[in-house]
Amino acid sequence: MSFRTLDGVAVAGKRVLVRADLNVPVRDGRITDLTRIERLSPTIRELSEKGARVVVLSHFDRPKGKRVPEMSLAPMATALGEVLGRKVRFGEDCCGVAGQQTVDAMNDGDVAVLENTRFHAGEEKNDPGFAAELAKLGDIFVNDAFSAAHRAHASTEGIARLLPSYAGRLMQAELEALEAALTTPLRPVMAIVGGSKVSTKLDLLGNLVGKVNVLVIGGAMANTFLAAGGVGVGRSLQEADLHDTALDIVAKAKAAGCEIVLPVDAVTASALQAGVTTTTVAIGAVPADQMILDVGPRTVADITARLASMRTLVWNGPVGAFETAPFDAATSALAHAVAAATQAGALRSVAGGGDTVSALKHAGVLDQMSYVSSAGGAFLEWLEGKTLPGVAALEG
Ligand code: 3PG
Ligand code: MG
Repeated sequence: MSFRTLDGVAVAGKRVLVRADLNVPVRDGRITDLTRIERLSPTIRELSEKGARVVVLSHFDRPKGKRVPEMSLAPMATALGEVLGRKVRFGEDCCGVAGQQTVDAMNDGDVAVLENTRFHAGEEKNDPGFAAELAKLGDIFVNDAFSAAHRAHASTEGIARLLPSYAGRLMQAELEALEAALTTPLRPVMAIVGGSKVSTKLDLLGNLVGKVNVLVIGGAMANTFLAAGGVGVGRSLQEADLHDTALDIVAKAKAAGCEIVLPVDAVTASALQAGVTTTTVAIGAVPADQMILDVGPRTVADITARLASMRTLVWNGPVGAFETAPFDAATSALAHAVAAATQAGALRSVAGGGDTVSALKHAGVLDQMSYVSSAGGAFLEWLEGKTLPGVAALEG
């Protein structure tokens, strides 16, 4: 895939509409994690330094086409100003007279954030009229919101068809990292997929078995695969209605020459509770009244040993119930092994998804991966092999 970057684009004196993803975590009205804003800032800074009038568009949360005051982007405009260390204006609307007034008042190098695009029903409908309203406010469109690129909305897809459009630096970094991980990877490639439900990752598993050499399945979704193979999993979370689907994935993997690696031991307990008594057992010996809550140390050793011969790793989903100690042990141990191989230059590691990022942060190695995606849903859809509409609109 080729997409247009900002290299060589003349932006001085131009109104540049930048689609950002300012959909940051907020608790009690306060932003709790600035990562997305920090990772967006190089694009804004570059454009501003080159003399563009930088007009930032974004959604926040899901106001469903109505003006919901608690979902205003005003706090994100302030936060962007703090991250950039400069004044950032805020416009009360992303279109119409108010939007126009905000943009008309800007000078070269200025930065403004306009109000939540999802306050307008046309945004999520990808209404051409609304896209045209947005496009009126700019001369050039830059999409730097990879994490919203799975949405075919007016500010991600529609507008890109109306203005000269380019990938911002964060979008570019995401696409380059993801392509290097799955499209043109150094082989062999391992994927670690965890999480609780096979049902949410069916397409992802189906796509990965055709792309990677080794697929490690952990988390509660491994239970479904084990149970489908006739292994007792006690009271563990699993999806009994997906056994045939799990077997289909195993067959597809076999046909594609992809090795599926399932846990060989497990840490079990009678309930998912901090401080609960745990037992480590071999797979096949899980007591009927116990639940599998983490993969065991032999499984970690097995995966770590295999990792030594891998050149590329794609990781999505924790292998245990990592939010509750001690069921974070295996995920953290793997995170450290991946970090060490990456830092030694032996492995290119790409991770993504909300839980995965939390788990890597919890293990203290978030900054030791080759690349961590800023996206949740978009990262998953990309792993599923789907075309992301916001990215497709930048191709050429
Ligand atoms: C995200 O946070 O994953 C993106 O901003 C997309 O948000 P959405 O799921 O509300 O479309
Ligand atoms: Mg979301």
